[in-house]
Amino acid sequence: MEKLDITRSLRLFDEATKLVPGGVGGARRPYNFVRGEYPIFFERGKGGRVTDVDGNEYVDFLCGFGPIILGYREEEVDEAVIRQIRDKGFCFTLTQPYQNQLAEKLNECIPCSEMCVFTKTGSDGTTASIRIARGYTDRMKVMRCGYHGWHDWCVEVKGGIPEKLYEDVHEFHYNNLNQLEDLMAKYGDETAAIILTPFGHPLHEKMQEPEPGFLEGVRGIATKYGAVLIYDEIRTGFRLSMGGAQKLYGVTPDLSVFGKGMANGYAISALAGKAEIMKAAEQKVFVSSTFFSNSSGYIAALKTIEILERDNVLDKIWERGGRFLQKVRNITNKYDVGAELSGVAPMFFITFKRDKADTYKARREDFYTQLIRRGVFLHPHHHGYICYRHTEEDLDLAAEAIDEALAYVNEKHGVSK
Ligand SMILES: Cc1ncc(COP(=O)(O)O)c(C=O)c1O
Repeated sequence: MEKLDITRSLRLFDEATKLVPGGVGGARRPYNFVRGEYPIFFERGKGGRVTDVDGNEYVDFLCGFGPIILGYREEEVDEAVIRQIRDKGFCFTLTQPYQNQLAEKLNECIPCSEMCVFTKTGSDGTTASIRIARGYTDRMKVMRCGYHGWHDWCVEVKGGIPEKLYEDVHEFHYNNLNQLEDLMAKYGDETAAIILTPFGHPLHEKMQEPEPGFLEGVRGIATKYGAVLIYDEIRTGFRLSMGGAQKLYGVTPDLSVFGKGMANGYAISALAGKAEIMKAAEQKVFVSSTFFSNSSGYIAALKTIEILERDNVLDKIWERGGRFLQKVRNITNKYDVGAELSGVAPMFFITFKRDKADTYKARREDFYTQLIRRGVFLHPHHHGYICYRHTEEDLDLAAEAIDEALAYVNEKHGVSK
């Protein structure tokens, strides 16, 4: 399969490097994909497909890195926001009443939710959760597991951040209860919060479902030491279930953070949790920003949640995605190239088994190169999502491309089973 023509993307990127450090935002830089093969700029999208600036069309499984739960340009959501902007306005000195409607809706959907603080991004929400937990407990230490955004306390790249801003933050690995137990035996009395993604989606690595007893164990440890248990449901919220992973797995945290899938692409996030703890945000800690009360996000979230409920969207994603993943699993099993499928129907990932000589990297690069050339936008280092508007045709096209791409890798690097 021939290389795509991405001339315009490359030209725009060249121009961008003189205008924006790195050309485009960190996670979206070409070195994160396959350099020279993936487009760098998109022009438009509709449903489950996007078109780049050179006119190449892709079935897109990144879904804007998560917020697209319905599909691109979902008319009902966009119309609701446009109507709000045109008829009433969305940016005011005081709050519009949609805030209350959305908080009530989240209380209905999310098991731990009794009160909400609305913010704009995932990083806002996770950072607010830590500040509130610290204010509530009068303790400083935080145990964390997963990616929680770009703010000082948690970002992986430490450049530009004084050590004292993250010296109280300790990391543990998903499904490793012993590691958390050891950390808490040492620091439990000083620990304000344990924050984790309730579903394991570490960068570059296979996705992990909670092992039996893991979430229950974390819950028990948090309670034992009086630490606030926080779920970062930025990816899992309104995707794994309407109440996030906490509803799916039946283990309830004290606070949880939602964003991405909640509003089909509009900027809004929510910290939702137990009233007793959330009330720390009334006096002890300050959380506020010029744009937090803008109603465009509230309106988009209310409409998105209405559609998710009305059309039983998540059941359909589980069903359609489940059939797709079974097909992909059969395909990956056909080839002895180290390809591994992980995740669940709404979020899945194809990774390559690591080996000492690092040959998996070449197989991974060839695989994702063959996929993008066939019009399937998946990411070598980040899992994909299935959205409501992915059609059977989109999924069939993707399955066929995965089969062909693995056959290519097998021919070049592997041995057939
Ligand atoms: C689990 C999780 N938490 C927090 C964040 C940070 O969200 P944002 O990029 O909107 O600040 C992300 C973003 O990808 C995320 O995946």
